[in-house]
Amino acid sequence: MSKRIAVLCSGGGTNLQAILDAVDAGEIDGQVVLVLANASRAFALERARAHGIEALFVSRKQAGSDAAFNDRILEHLLRVRADLVVLAGYLPIVGPQVVRAFEHRILNIHPALIPAFCGPGMYGHHVHQAVLDYGAKISGATVHFVDEQVDHGCIVMQESVPVLQDDDADALAARVLQVEHRILPRSVALFCAGKLRVDGRRVFVVQ
Ligand code: GRF
Repeated sequence: MSKRIAVLCSGGGTNLQAILDAVDAGEIDGQVVLVLANASRAFALERARAHGIEALFVSRKQAGSDAAFNDRILEHLLRVRADLVVLAGYLPIVGPQVVRAFEHRILNIHPALIPAFCGPGMYGHHVHQAVLDYGAKISGATVHFVDEQVDHGCIVMQESVPVLQDDDADALAARVLQVEHRILPRSVALFCAGKLRVDGRRVFVVQ
């Protein structure tokens, strides 16, 4: 049974696009049934519309509180009968009611090698600048299941990239983004194929 995937975004949606392209290429046994953004002008919504997929803006401001905002998000996830939720460049913290409703069914992509350079405030360029400032020699990207702590859930997949001597945050971000576009669709494909097995903090790919 093809899995129903909901994707949450905040920005340009290049990770969403990588998932859409993988679905179109037959690499994912699933279909994106909803793209939900917390920013009305997120280009990710345009990418959804171009694919004939429901593109929904949910306003944190109109909701009035984090709890009400996440209640609205949960309502939509249940309405579309999502089997999997993917946070693809999604900045808000997912509320506990959503995490509990979708335990081990929410995937997040983080642009560093967790447990390094992650946690509150570590998103986008802040991550890559912190890697450069620290003098790290490798960075990379991580796909993990979402739990009730920020960037803490068990790790599904990681891939590293070198930090080059003349890198600035933009150059490193671009190199890491290429990895994101590989490991996120692959992780979604493994989930949809039922090949991910969680044992405590460890995630195994079953053959
Ligand atoms: C990128 O910085 C990526 O590292 C992170 O979210 C940002 C935007 O991604 N995951 P996208 O282009 O909106 O998918």
